[in-house]
Amino acid sequence: MKRALKWIGIVLGSLIGILLIAGVALHVVGRSRLNNAPEVATKPVAAAVGETAVARGEHLVNVISQCRGCHGDHLEGNVFLDGEIGIYLPAPNLTAGKGGIGATYTDADWERAIRHGIGGDNRVLAIMPSNYFSHYSDADLAAIIAYLKTFPPVDSDFPPRQVGFPGTVLGGVVGFDEFTKINGIDHAAVGGATPPEGATAEYGAYMVSIAMCGECHAANLAGIVGEDGPPPGPNLTPGGDLGDWTEADFLTAIRTGQTPDGRILDSEMMPWGTFSQMSDTELQAIWAYLQSLPALPDNS
Ligand code: HEC
Ligand code: HEC
Repeated sequence: MKRALKWIGIVLGSLIGILLIAGVALHVVGRSRLNNAPEVATKPVAAAVGETAVARGEHLVNVISQCRGCHGDHLEGNVFLDGEIGIYLPAPNLTAGKGGIGATYTDADWERAIRHGIGGDNRVLAIMPSNYFSHYSDADLAAIIAYLKTFPPVDSDFPPRQVGFPGTVLGGVVGFDEFTKINGIDHAAVGGATPPEGATAEYGAYMVSIAMCGECHAANLAGIVGEDGPPPGPNLTPGGDLGDWTEADFLTAIRTGQTPDGRILDSEMMPWGTFSQMSDTELQAIWAYLQSLPALPDNS
């Protein structure tokens, strides 16, 4: 009996030891993966010049891609995670003020962060939705950089990101592809021309990518169900409610939040207040694209 107990003790002790070693190893691997981005193909662009480009950049930053929603109203930065699962994660100050990256960032740095999800210090960016922004055309990215360079500097200094246990394992190993976006990007394929601006499905598809509609309405736009993750947005293909809508209904819904059946969309969950500043052409293009999709049943 005593002997058996002794053996059980040895086996249990070894198991705990192995688990501890495995935990430490995963911690080290995860931390290293998050802090050292792999070498990826990049395609730097030079900041655009001129008022038209700056105005385009302003519209893309503030309305289409809503950088302020995460980086703060004055792009001064904003703490995203404050110690949850061992992670301190600020969305950095993007201005040229004290503590901002704008003062030192090169055009190539902007491209790498926005389209490839890699920070100036070569860390793999977490939460920053570069998987959507990788669709940005060269001209539009150049306009964004031009606008960000004109942005009034704000002094706002955050300590650098810190990822400790168990965040290293959860974000760096187990959930790496959800926490970061780098593997969801076809790095060699970024760049190219902006689709011709017009009320076409092609231009609408571009807008839907850079406006991140898929984040809340699912990649196939047939809706998200359930409580987990982002606010569950309904099916936007003709298989959902929009199958019975007209283009005018769609524009009214995005401009005023009111759907044809009289509901008011929750502006906290569906950012129509910001999207209402999209141009008619942009909204008509998005509508044309949504209508061009197959009528999918709601995702389950
Ligand atoms: C959903 C939230 C979200 C949105 C929207 C967003 N960002 Fe970010 N961004 C973040 C977070 C969080 C980080 C920090 C990631 C990290 O440190 O792991 C970040 C990091 C960055 C960095 C890297 C800075 C550095 O330290 O090297 C740049 C540049 C950046 N964002 C620019 C933008 C621009 C430009 C837009 C709009 C086109 C934008 N972001 C939209 C959340 C967001
Ligand atoms: C941050 C999450 C989020 C993003 C991003 C988002 N939506 Fe939504 N959307 C929602 C949610 C949640 C609802 C449901 C709101 C409600 O019923 O009050 C919704 C509802 C809608 C509706 C009404 C659908 C219906 O059946 O009543 C339309 C249309 C819509 N979204 C279009 C878009 C388009 C187009 C984009 C991109 C330009 C987009 N959404 C981006 C979360 C989002």
